[in-house]
This record gives sequence, C-alpha cells and structure tokens, in this order.
Amino acid sequence: MIFVTGGAGFIGSNFVLDWLAESDEGVVNLDALTYAGNLRNLEALAGDKRHVFVQGDIADRMLVDRLLAEHQPRAIVHFAAESHVDRSIHGPAEFIRTNVQGTFALLEATRGYWSALSEPERSRFRFHHVSTDEVYGSLAPGEPAFTETHPYEPNSPYSASKAASDHLVRAWHHTYGLPVLTSNCSNNYGPYHFPEKLIPLMIVNALAGKPLPVYGDGQQVRDWLYVGDHCSGIRAVLEGGRVGETYNIGGWNELANIEIVRTVCTLLDELRPDPDGPHERLITHVADRPGHDRRYAIDARKIERELGWRPRETFASGIRKTVRWYLDHPDWVADVLSGSYREWMQRNYAERRA
Ligand code: NAD
Ligand code: DAU
Repeated sequence: MIFVTGGAGFIGSNFVLDWLAESDEGVVNLDALTYAGNLRNLEALAGDKRHVFVQGDIADRMLVDRLLAEHQPRAIVHFAAESHVDRSIHGPAEFIRTNVQGTFALLEATRGYWSALSEPERSRFRFHHVSTDEVYGSLAPGEPAFTETHPYEPNSPYSASKAASDHLVRAWHHTYGLPVLTSNCSNNYGPYHFPEKLIPLMIVNALAGKPLPVYGDGQQVRDWLYVGDHCSGIRAVLEGGRVGETYNIGGWNELANIEIVRTVCTLLDELRPDPDGPHERLITHVADRPGHDRRYAIDARKIERELGWRPRETFASGIRKTVRWYLDHPDWVADVLSGSYREWMQRNYAERRA
C-alpha cells in the first residue's frame, strides 16, 4: 500500500479518490484535520477497506513510526502542509512547524523505516514530496517560465517554508540515499477547494451576492492546472520519475487574476443568473497582498518528455466543471463556511481598503 499525508485536504483528497478509482492498492491516509482538512471530501470511501484514515500529526514521530511499521508502505506521498499564503502572512509560525519541522520529522521516520527494509524493498521504495512553483519566486512579464533549475527565490513565509522542505528532501537523498522525488506544481483548482483560495472564494461569494475581493490591480498572473491533472502528474512521477529528480507540473494556462474572476462571473451568469444583474458588478478591488508575487509560469516540458504526462483539461473545460461542482454541492459549501471560516474572512478582509 501507499502512505499519504494530508489526504483530507484539497489536493490530497482528490489524489486519494483518484488513486482508489484507478487501482486496488490501499492507502493509509494521515491527516491532522486542521481547518483545511475535511473528512466530507472522503465520504465516497466510507466502508472501503482499501482506505485507512488516521487523524494525526506528521510531526508525531511515535505515531508515524508505528504506522509505517504496521502498514509497510512501498511509497509515501507527502501533501500535508499549511498552504495559504495570506494565512502565512498573518501567522507564519504554524507554517514553519508543519512545513519545515513536520517534513523533517517525516523524513527521519521514513529514513528509519526505509533503512530496515530488505534490499529489493529499499530499491523499490519512494518518498514523493509535493511542492509548489512558488519556491522559484516571481517572474517579470516575458521572462521564460520556471524550469526545474530555476534558482529558489521564495518571497512569502509560505513559499519560504516550502522551499526549506524541498531542501530537506533533497539533502536526505544526497546524504542518506533516501529515494526521493519532488514535484513543483502551479495553482490548482477543482472540487473540494477550500473557499479561502481565489477561485472557490469568488464562486462562493458571487453565489451569496457578496463582494469579490480582487487584490491590487488584479493583473497578477498564475498558471492554472485542474486538480485531477496534478494528481495524474504525481502518479506519473511516482511510477516513472528518476530518483532524486524534480519535476515541474503545470497546465500552460497563464491567466491574470482579473480574467479568472470575470470567467467565473460569466459562467455563473449562464448557470445561475442573478436577478440583480451580472455577477461582475460585485468585483471590488481591495488592498494588495504584501510581497505579492507578480507572475508564476511553469515550464512542464521535462515531465512531458520523460514521462509522457499531459493535462487532460483545458482551462475552459476545467473551470466549467469546477463551477458546476460548487453549484451541485451546496451542503459541502455550507459545511465549510463555519465559525472559524467566518473569523478568517473577518481577519483577512475587514481591514483591506479599496
Ligand atoms: P490544503 O491546505 O487544502 O490541505 C492540507 C492538508 O494537510 C489538510 O488536510 C490538513 O489537515 C493537513 N495537515 C496540515 N498540517 C498537518 C500536520 N501537521 N500533520 C498532518 N496533516 C496536516 O492544501 P492543498 O492545497 O491540498 O495542498 C497540498 C499540498 O500541495 C501542499 O503541500 C501544498 O504546498 C502543495 N501545493 C498546492 C497547490 C495548490 O494550488 N493548492 C499547488 C502546488 C502545490
Ligand atoms: O502556485 C501554487 C500555489 O498556489 C500553492 O502553492 C498554494 O498552496 C496555493 O494557495 C496557491 O497560492 P496563491 O497565493 O497563488 O493562491 P490564492 O488562491 O491564494 O491566490 C491566487 C491569486 O489571487 C493571487 O495572486 C492572490 C489573488 N487573490 C487571492 C485571494 C484569496 C485575490 O486577488 N483575492 C483574494 O481574495
């Protein structure tokens, strides 16, 4: 079986669902169920014996040691992290604790487990670290997209903590021989995306007739990838990636934030028209994110060339599916808009002036 961390979050839960739809190999899923973890994402697996869910912290060595010894996974796919840039600006400590110290603890537990395996099992084993394009910093307009050899220039507490975790993973390979793989992916979107992030926030606010808060001029560029394509990219790297290598994963979909917001509004005008008028009327420019990276773009040629991976969704098909998913899952949305979510919205947006 495989061992997944953070499998109740946005990408992790999509990965677990896709994995079990594609194969019969079981999954042990370790997740602390922070505000971002949600067991409702995994409801479809209720009663499925191939999925073992454990609530716990990746930094809990005794727990991780016990789970590895008990389940003997052939691979670890490490998603667990604090993932929201704005939260890292308000409170960086938790990002250092989970993303840096948590990854360190997980690497040490993995090293202990892996060292004791038989030689064929040691050769077969993989530790796949799921990381982000944000570690490479920000691009100027017209600059070539990030390749795997782009210098690390993280600018937010979140991206700095992810960069640190990437370095630890690299060092555990070079120093101890741990068979690691790292993938650095661009912005994901799709089902189960927590509505603190741009796309689901815009859908949820527009449906409620609330302002759509666009930071600064809205001309910041991100490279969007449908979450199912990220999951298939991770599976491709896990199965065929060269040990010790890094693979960038991206959809060749560079779009400015304001274009994203307008696209969401247009789709909602079509699928759920608002009697008060077009949803674009709700767009509100608010104070910018401090240290806001201007542009990310992924050069995904390495994974395409070496592993034959390609995204299946275009942005047009993926965003339509995503908007429909939110319209079809009002209970999931209502469930996540809980007390702690409202506190976060107040904290992040109340003092942003137009
Ligand atoms: P998310 O915030 O939705 O989910 C994170 C999950 O990790 C949650 O279920 C949470 O409960 C769990 N978790 C947090 N701290 C933990 C701890 N100490 N121990 C165990 N579990 C813990 O994040 P996501 O968007 O699904 O991102 C998953 C991974 O992919 C992260 O490592 C992130 O850096 C990376 N990534 C995300 C994106 C994106 O666009 N969302 C893009 C590239 C890479
Ligand atoms: O690039 C990959 C990264 O993408 C991941 O590593 C992160 O985990 C993930 O959260 C995401 O980071 P971003 O900061 O790019 O995503 P977010 O959805 O928070 O913001 C996308 C863009 O939209 C960014 O330029 C900020 C802007 N934005 C965001 C919010 C929440 C707004 O204009 N208004 C908002 O209210």
